[in-house]
Amino acid sequence: MEDILDLDRYPLDREGSPDWQRLVEASTAALEANGMFNLEGFLRPGVAERTVAEIRPVMDTRSHVHKRMHNIYFKPSIPELSPDHPALRKVETISHTVCADQIPGSTVLAIYEYEPLVRFLAATMGKPQLHVMQDPLARANVMGYRAGEALNWHFDRSEFTTTLLLQAPERGGDFEYRTDLRSDDDPNYDGVAQLLEGRDPEAKILRMRAGTLNVFRGKNTAHRVTTVEGERERMIAVFSYYERPGVIFSEEERIGFYGRAA
Ligand SMILES: [Fe+2]
Repeated sequence: MEDILDLDRYPLDREGSPDWQRLVEASTAALEANGMFNLEGFLRPGVAERTVAEIRPVMDTRSHVHKRMHNIYFKPSIPELSPDHPALRKVETISHTVCADQIPGSTVLAIYEYEPLVRFLAATMGKPQLHVMQDPLARANVMGYRAGEALNWHFDRSEFTTTLLLQAPERGGDFEYRTDLRSDDDPNYDGVAQLLEGRDPEAKILRMRAGTLNVFRGKNTAHRVTTVEGERERMIAVFSYYERPGVIFSEEERIGFYGRAA
């Protein structure tokens, strides 16, 4: 793994050492302050390009195209809102997904399953343990966004998301987010409407470089990936970890996300 990850800069393999402890503390502090942390240069130089070359043939020929109109909640309706409420404005998402079962033996899966990474992530979140998923499709995905494609505004279902940017596009494809747009007690529908109308001055843009690991709390922070422009596809690995072992998706979830049950 030391040829793949920059373990000199990010000493995941030296759990409990002062350097490891410092990295955990800095990451926890960033999560607390900004709802995310970034490990830039997590991949050694050249690794992102090699990883993209591994994924490319599958992405080009066998990825699942997901294209749909949705609201920020990914729900058909919200009981306390009338269907024409501006917080329910529809937006379009188009993306290409490669599932874990399509890339056995890949660098992406090796990083996903690297135990020091799983333990490090648990430590940054103050959790006793995290586990990889057992789902053969959902464990790790690589998402592709081509010219004209975007992941539109949404809140995440999961408490946090771990991603690794493999290839940045020429233009667009930026990560835009609005921290704490809602809370567990306050849905802030007017604020949601304002964001969807492009009138939220607190929305921020994060321009990531290929090879950056990002951990993000997206349950109450609205976020999107803006429309990609230019020839180069945005490619990003998405890693799913859970506090309990053995998590798998239902058949309905697999069909909804990937268009197939197995
Ligand atoms: Fe998300």
